Order: sequence, then structure tokens, then C-alpha cells
Amino acid sequence: MRLIDTGGVGPRVLLVVGARPNFVKVAPVAHALRRRDEVETALLHTGQHYNRNLSDVFLDQLDLPPPDFHLGVGSGSHAEQTAGVLTGTECVLREHPFDAVLVAGDVNSTLAAALAAAKLGVAVIHLEAGLRSGDWSMPEEINRVLTDRLSDLLLCPSADAVDNLVAEGIPQERVTVVGNTMIDSLFRLEAAATQRGAIERLGLSFGEFVLVTLHRPMLVDDIQLLNATLNALSSVGRTLPVVFPVHPRTRARLGAQGLSEGCVQLVDPLDYLDFVCVMRGARLVITDSGGVQEETSALGVPCLTYRTSTERPITVTAGTNRLVGLDPPTLREACEEVLSHPPPLERPRIPLWDGAAGDRAAGAIAGFLPRRLAHAKGL
Ligand code: UD1
Repeated sequence: MRLIDTGGVGPRVLLVVGARPNFVKVAPVAHALRRRDEVETALLHTGQHYNRNLSDVFLDQLDLPPPDFHLGVGSGSHAEQTAGVLTGTECVLREHPFDAVLVAGDVNSTLAAALAAAKLGVAVIHLEAGLRSGDWSMPEEINRVLTDRLSDLLLCPSADAVDNLVAEGIPQERVTVVGNTMIDSLFRLEAAATQRGAIERLGLSFGEFVLVTLHRPMLVDDIQLLNATLNALSSVGRTLPVVFPVHPRTRARLGAQGLSEGCVQLVDPLDYLDFVCVMRGARLVITDSGGVQEETSALGVPCLTYRTSTERPITVTAGTNRLVGLDPPTLREACEEVLSHPPPLERPRIPLWDGAAGDRAAGAIAGFLPRRLAHAKGL
């Protein structure tokens, strides 16, 4: 089914996706907008992620239609990737009149599409606005701060994100808390994911393994640190099986250096449903991803974040997450500690992470667009 309906007369929003987490966040908003039937939408895929398991399978499993526009930017340096999305989005917006562009999260595609829209006077809506790690060495932090600055409607996942935006001088009337749309996708597809049997296929047992995802350049581009980290994981693997679906960036580093994985089971990246299936069955998750900190918190699965900062502090204060820094011995100790305690009995309840954030986001967009159009017409 196509989202776009070129015969309609309602406001038109271009939904932009590019990398794996974008698909998961944008799908609930796309579905909710389609249900409301007040706003026309089209989907633009930048092509930042292009491997089948990082892209097409996600679209299918999240019930997103084939993109109306595909920029095919692929990989490259930050400048190349950002420039490709910037010029590609500009071309689409020049040829097709849209009233707003919705971008999600903090990847290079997010900032580039927001910039193209803002320069053409097209309204920018940022889904997952206001998160801050305070670490300017992360490309994602640059993307977040600049995208928020360019945005006309800022949709926040939690109240702390609003505080960050207000502290930076973003006018409060542009900002609204809608909750976490990634958790909408998780709750909607959790039952289907559970049926997949991915845990058994990997030779594992529910609640009796550790899941690892690591892909950030600050870790995987530092070969000494990556090697020491694999050694730490390998020692955890002598207590409980460790499974590590490997992102292409990490795979390239491991292959180039011939690093040994020891007692760690390295597998190809999992599709969305298999990943949810495995994550909800893990005894412990170790990650440097943003979304996985949130998903484990919503599922009540203990999570160790192998980074020095998090832009999602609510997962630490209200969820199951603990920030352990980027130090292999500390990681090993933290694993031992988690595994020596029984798993949590209940799932944490984080305000507005309830499966209905997409509906609230669609409501906020439907309320915003007429105001924006009236303003543009000088009414
Ligand atoms: C990007 C995001 C990161 C997000 C991650 C989710 C930025 C700056 N980073 O990181 O915030 O957590 O997506 O997965 O936008 N590659 C492939 N096939 C693909 C995509 C990438 O082989 O389909 C390889 C390429 O070698 C590429 C490398 O992975 O150079 C990195 O891809 P890139 O899109 O630059 O960033 P990610 O590390 O995926």
C-alpha cells in the first residue's frame, strides 16, 4: 500500500527514514497518521542503510510501504553521506510540494533532511527531540542539537528532553512530550516476535544467555579497546553463553584485525522481529546502542551500556539500564554483579512509553500543520 495520495487536498508530510532505528521510530507515526486521514504522507528512504537485514526487512516487518522516494546515498564519510541526503532531499522537495518534513532520531540522514527542508522554508518536525548526551565528540550529539535548532515542532520521548530544549532557549510552544514511539513498535510486535523461535535457532535457552550489540566508532575503531572488550566478553561467556549480532562496521574491524572472539558467538545482524525475540529472552544485554537501552528498559531486561555517557538518562533512573563506561574490567565486574542477582520480576513503567506515542505524535502533527499553513499564508 502506498502512503502517498497525490489527489488529496490535506497538508502533506514527507516522512524521512535512513538507518535501522529510524524505521522502528517512524512506523507508528506513519500508521497513526494514515488512520487519522487528515494528513497526506509519503515516505523517503535516504539509503543510509542498504543491507537487506538493516533496511528492507525492517520496512516489511514494521508494515511500512515501499518508499515513494529512494535517495540511495549509501556509505561514505560523514560529509559525503550528509551531503548526499541534503542534495537528494532538496531535489525531492523542489519537485514535490510538501508542507512539512518529519525526521527521527539522530543519524546523519536526520540532520541532512532537516537542513534541506529548513532552507526551503518547509516545516521541520523532529521525532525524538531533546535528547542530550553532553558528549560533543559523538556525531549523533551534533545531529541532535542542530536538528532541534532547525525544527518547528519538537516531539519529545520524555519530560527530561523538554527541560534540555528549554534550557537551550527553544521556545516552549514548539515542544511537546508524546512518549517513545520505538516502544510502540516493540509492544505491537512483541507477540509476533516471540513466535519466531530465534532463541532456539541460535542454540540458546530463554533467560540463560547474554546479548551483545556494539557498533560505535569510539569503541570499534579502537582495535586495542575492541580486543580487550572481546576478551572481557569471552570471560563472561564462560559463565553464560554470549551471543553478539555483529553490525557491518564492527564485522569489518574484526575481519581486518583477525581478532579472536573466544567464547562469544558472533552472528549476522538480526532482523527486527528476531532481535526483539532474542532481546526479551536475554538474561542481560550489553550495548552501546541508544534504542536498545530503551527497549530493554521497557521489557524489564537488565542492560549495561558500554559507553561513557547516555542521552537517555531516564533508562537509568526509571528503567533497567546502567552506564558502565568504556572499560573492559569494569564491564566484566558489572556483568558478574548483574548475573549474581535474580532478574527483575516486573517491567518498569516509564511515563508515556505505553504503546500509544505514535497516536499522540500524529495528534500533535495534525494540530500543528493547520497553524503552520495559516501562518505561511499570513492569516
Ligand atoms: C548509524 C548511525 C548511528 C546508529 C546506527 C544504527 C550516524 C552518524 N550513525 O551508524 O547513530 O546507531 O546507524 O545502526 O548516522 N554498512 C553496511 N551496510 C549498511 C549500512 C552500513 O555495510 O547497510 C557499513 C558500511 O561499511 C558503513 C558502516 O557500516 O561505512 C557504517 O554505516 P553508517 O551508516 O555510516 O553508520 P552506522 O555505524 O550504521
